[in-house]
Amino acid sequence: MASRLARLGGVAYTAQPPMSSVPYPRKVRANDPYADAPYLPGKATESVELESLFAAAAGRPIEIEIGGGRGAFAYERATVLAAEEGCLVGLEIRKKWATIVDKKLASLGLGARARCFAEDARFALPRLSPSARVRAVFLHFPDPWWKKKHEKRLVMGDVVQDEIERLLVPGGELFVQTDVDHRAEQYRTFLDARPALMPKGDREGEPWLAENPYDARSPREKRAILDGLPIHRMRFVKK
Ligand SMILES: C[S@@+](CC[C@H](N)C(=O)[O-])C[C@H]1O[C@@H](n2cnc3c(N)ncnc32)[C@H](O)[C@@H]1O
Repeated sequence: MASRLARLGGVAYTAQPPMSSVPYPRKVRANDPYADAPYLPGKATESVELESLFAAAAGRPIEIEIGGGRGAFAYERATVLAAEEGCLVGLEIRKKWATIVDKKLASLGLGARARCFAEDARFALPRLSPSARVRAVFLHFPDPWWKKKHEKRLVMGDVVQDEIERLLVPGGELFVQTDVDHRAEQYRTFLDARPALMPKGDREGEPWLAENPYDARSPREKRAILDGLPIHRMRFVKK
């Protein structure tokens, strides 16, 4: 399987490179314009109660977006979630974008139900609790890395996937989309092999969705639509 995927031009998602250490204490450079970046509360070793991140999340749906970038999905999804008082947790590794997005969510009046934290999902997800609390996890156009030496940056892999499956409520959804053909194949192969998941696309037994059903689009999704690029969308649910 690995060689087949390698022929497709990418790396196989059979293993995520080990992470040597938790990236704490955080390095703050002098004159860092994002020194006030929003981080998850507490220390690296401390667990974070998902409901504690919001004023009124008790019993409400909670969703997670990994690697939201410039944030359009978060603004739109948080607006949709407002109707059912749901909450959205964003984890974006780039301090700049996490800071801008988190501030904009607040300025749009959505800060009480949606936050974007400047966190590496590979380290942040294991801190989140309790298990089986999250209704949906979104990964829009992840992993724009193609070189072997960048493999260690990949988000999609065993470490993150274990945590996504731990956090999802039974029946909870994992939505992944990409405009890169061989990535779509890799993700599908990788997710198909996860015993905790089953595909829930437009057709029985298949993960593929023709449309994004969440009434919110990421920046890259909007760009891909404008450029007429085919988008591969897949949905899996936790058994
Ligand atoms: C190709 S961009 C896609 C951005 C956005 N999802 C979209 O569709 O427009 C990938 C995003 O994932 C973020 N990212 C990469 N690795 C990450 C990680 N380990 N944890 C959180 N975010 C990460 C990058 O900073 C970037 O914003």
